[in-house]
Amino acid sequence: MPTDSQATWSAIILAAGEGTRMKSSRPKVLHEIAGRALVSWVVQTALDAGAARCLVVVGHGADDVERELVTRFGKRVEMVLQPERRGTGDAVRCAIEADSKLRGRLVVLYGDCPLIPVQLLHDLVDNSDRAGANLGLVTATLADPSGYGRIVRNGAGDVQRVVEDRDCSDAERTVEEVNPGLYAVQAAFLREAIARLTPDNAQGQLYLTDVVELAAQEGKVVDLKGDMADLTGVNDQRDLAMAASTRRRRMAEELARSGVGVTDLDTLYIDAGCEVEPGAVLGANVHLRGQCVVRAGAHIDVGCVLTDVIVDQDANVLPYTVATDSTIGEGAQVGPFSHLRPQTHLGPRSKVGNFSETKKTTVGKGSKVNHLSYVGDGIIGEGVNIGAGTIFCNYDGEQKHTTVLEDGVFIGSDTQLVAPVTIKKGAYVASGTTVTRDVPEDALAVSRPKQVNKEGYAARLRARLRSKKNP
Ligand code: UD1
Ligand code: CA
Repeated sequence: MPTDSQATWSAIILAAGEGTRMKSSRPKVLHEIAGRALVSWVVQTALDAGAARCLVVVGHGADDVERELVTRFGKRVEMVLQPERRGTGDAVRCAIEADSKLRGRLVVLYGDCPLIPVQLLHDLVDNSDRAGANLGLVTATLADPSGYGRIVRNGAGDVQRVVEDRDCSDAERTVEEVNPGLYAVQAAFLREAIARLTPDNAQGQLYLTDVVELAAQEGKVVDLKGDMADLTGVNDQRDLAMAASTRRRRMAEELARSGVGVTDLDTLYIDAGCEVEPGAVLGANVHLRGQCVVRAGAHIDVGCVLTDVIVDQDANVLPYTVATDSTIGEGAQVGPFSHLRPQTHLGPRSKVGNFSETKKTTVGKGSKVNHLSYVGDGIIGEGVNIGAGTIFCNYDGEQKHTTVLEDGVFIGSDTQLVAPVTIKKGAYVASGTTVTRDVPEDALAVSRPKQVNKEGYAARLRARLRSKKNP
């Protein structure tokens, strides 16, 4: 991603906290919005903005946080351990003490602020550098500032210090200008300032925010107005839900702007790892999870939930289809109410219809599984027609077995195919048959007793039953 900012700077991201307010056993920064952990959103922003190095301070649940970050970012992130949670100031101390080579401008971000725009980081670094300030920070105004640190300015309007919510006087508590927690600090100054912090506050912690007062005492603090919609910190489940909904709405708008048809901007749920090409259409209440790809001309209709699914060009996924780890071929049609379980691969212009379930099955070009069927562990050729209510009996109680239907096979309704079994090219299987042996090419398999019609029997039976009911 191109950066406007010419300056070199490094990021320190604080992610060691427990997040008790989340009331969850998972570390707070691993809670996800749009399929990506809070801390990963922050790291991604720092990297996109051009951070030369990216240090993440971990502590609570360190192993899990580290695993998430290494999996996603590899060597682009460096981990620093904060052994005890002694506050945000202590967390920064751990980072700068761990690395004596950290120089120049450092941008400190909290790992629980997942909506920060790249441009804001550029502006903060540029403004701070231009003014030659030891410290620059972003401020924002909130009608309900409770929970946030408040910005205290002097008579000249310069930022003097930040006072935490719990440490506010009554007058300070009414201040609507808050500290969203985004700072650009000179490393040399930060090193010296952090050493001077004391835990002299309501929480008995080392507050990073106290560095602001130290910077103001030595020179002017640069401040930049931000929009709180970009800067919310996630402290509890409500904050998480609100941040997720903001992110979701933005992603939906971005897609629509790129040329994707979006039926309802408010109910599109797309994980960050998904890709949708311009010219695709996404209905209301569609969920794309994990790493889906939806190609141009494809249409995903209302209520579909797709996880790690590739939907090829012009495919049509009808309402309320659930699919996982599968591919839907060009021009194929799925649904309504179909369930594609892992490793389903639907060929071009194939069809899987109402209440059909598939698993680990390949369906060839133009083949159809239209109604109420279960096809598991199947290899289905081209131009195959599978009648309503067909079951692939793939499991013998111990093992799974494969059913093979070669090209042009026709399976009548209400058929069971007991695997392992192969139906060769062009064969027919009559309705109601239980197939237990392979069927040769172009043969007909039928396994049902001959039909007998007993003339008048139903009428006599009815009369007898009625006479019993009303003697
Ligand atoms: C912090 C700020 C507050 C600001 C708010 C914005 C301080 C003292 N306060 O408060 O002024 O308005 O963010 O969202 O900085 N963390 C550690 N180690 C620790 C403690 C925290 O790594 O020992 C991490 C947490 O994982 C979290 C971040 O620092 O990602 C912020 O901590 P949190 O406890 O959420 O701070 P707030 O109370 O929100
Ligand atoms: Ca917070």
